[in-house]
Amino acid sequence: MTELIFATHSDHKVKEIMAMMPQQFTVKSLKDIAWIEEIIEDGKTLEDNALIKVRTIHQRLGKNCFAEDTGLEVNVLGGEPGVHTARYAGEHRDTEDNIIFLLNKLENKTDRRAQFRTVMSLILDQKEFLFEGIVRGHIAEKKSGESGFGYDPIFIPEGYDQSFAQLGSEIKNRISHRAQALQKMLAFLNSID
Ligand code: IMP
Repeated sequence: MTELIFATHSDHKVKEIMAMMPQQFTVKSLKDIAWIEEIIEDGKTLEDNALIKVRTIHQRLGKNCFAEDTGLEVNVLGGEPGVHTARYAGEHRDTEDNIIFLLNKLENKTDRRAQFRTVMSLILDQKEFLFEGIVRGHIAEKKSGESGFGYDPIFIPEGYDQSFAQLGSEIKNRISHRAQALQKMLAFLNSID
């Protein structure tokens, strides 16, 4: 039984990861270990931020842990918002405002291709590892659906004609950026078992 701390304050991410995690792993969230301190994510890349989170927890607790940082990368915006995805419309980090800001930027744009990219970081036995997951798709003209979180109501994955928020957690957790990064990390963990 491997115990891992998941270094995130996002209840949404915890819910998704817990739903996808095989039983042989015991995952504890920051809430489970009563860690309330904010972790300042001031890196220049998703990789930087994913590492900041695991290093913070590992330095203090010395335990095996993983984290992830996710960005939405829009082709016509040169990969924006990328590492700024959470605060695209400002430091108040409001999801509704972020969505409106992005939809305004894409007004009248026909090329709406985008991808979600997750970088998952792991510290295991004092060593660091990174795993990447990408799902390609496009940005809808308007919001639809209630499931998921963040930009899910405006992201339509390739091969589907509904948003992640309409498709629901079962499909999202099968094909998403986060699911793909997690599968790579699990394959690695199983390979060294
Ligand atoms: P962070 O990885 O917690 O910094 O999240 C960056 C931003 O991306 C936040 O605005 C999240 O709401 C958004 N985000 C992260 N993961 C997802 C996802 O799976 N679907 C939609 N939005 C997401």
